Amino acid sequence: MIAAFQPKVLAGKRILITAGPTFEAIDPVRGITNLSSGKMGYAVARAAREAGADVTLISGPTALATPFGVARQNVKSAQQMFDAVMDHIGGQHVFISVAAVADWKVVNPSEQKVKKTGDGSVPELKFEQNPDILASVATRTSLAGWPYCVGFAAESENLIEYGASKRERKGIPLLVGNIGHNTFGQDDNTIILFDEHGHTILPRADKLTLARQLISEIAKRIDKNSL
Ligand code: CTP
Ligand code: CA
Repeated sequence: MIAAFQPKVLAGKRILITAGPTFEAIDPVRGITNLSSGKMGYAVARAAREAGADVTLISGPTALATPFGVARQNVKSAQQMFDAVMDHIGGQHVFISVAAVADWKVVNPSEQKVKKTGDGSVPELKFEQNPDILASVATRTSLAGWPYCVGFAAESENLIEYGASKRERKGIPLLVGNIGHNTFGQDDNTIILFDEHGHTILPRADKLTLARQLISEIAKRIDKNSL
């Protein structure tokens, strides 16, 4: 179905979405990131906009064009993504956390490029944990009753077991699970929706089709919550 004919199931709703990888600096020319292309998050932003929502996209570094009608703010690190989400979260009806957020950042990244030494010695990196953006928003939701929080989980094994337990650990009503090597950089994917009733498999399809199905599932659920 083409965009203009998508049912406007999210008309009047404000939706905040994170997408893409984050990038943690080691020095001004090097850093640590992950394999997310941002395609799924951007597809979700497009599908939410097609469904009539007012969409804000907080994006890590990607090579993708901003979907039509979507307001986008670019960030690099997980801390910057956390700050941008907290700046925008007030008044949002739904938060969809698609970004592959780096779990750790380098403590004290070097201000100048780290140079190789002649003796073959290597730098030692120390890490600390980044803030958990989704868990922080979910804590807020437990007090205010909104926004409705949707998480994503890319696993490499045991998806059904890990997805169900991750949804509960994060304290969110809906989690979308997928297997990392089936999705990263690809145009299509298979996803599993986890909610309080169990799980439902959405068979392999292109990411825009899956994003539209996900948006329709979210719309049904927030209707019930009557946000
Ligand atoms: N997430 C987040 N902030 C983080 C880490 C994760 O907002 N610092 C969000 C992701 O955007 C995703 C969800 O949490 O929606 C699950 O991310 P995932 O990496 O699968 O879970 P973790 O809790 O980080 O557990 P692990 O990586 O150990 O599996
Ligand atoms: Ca993680």
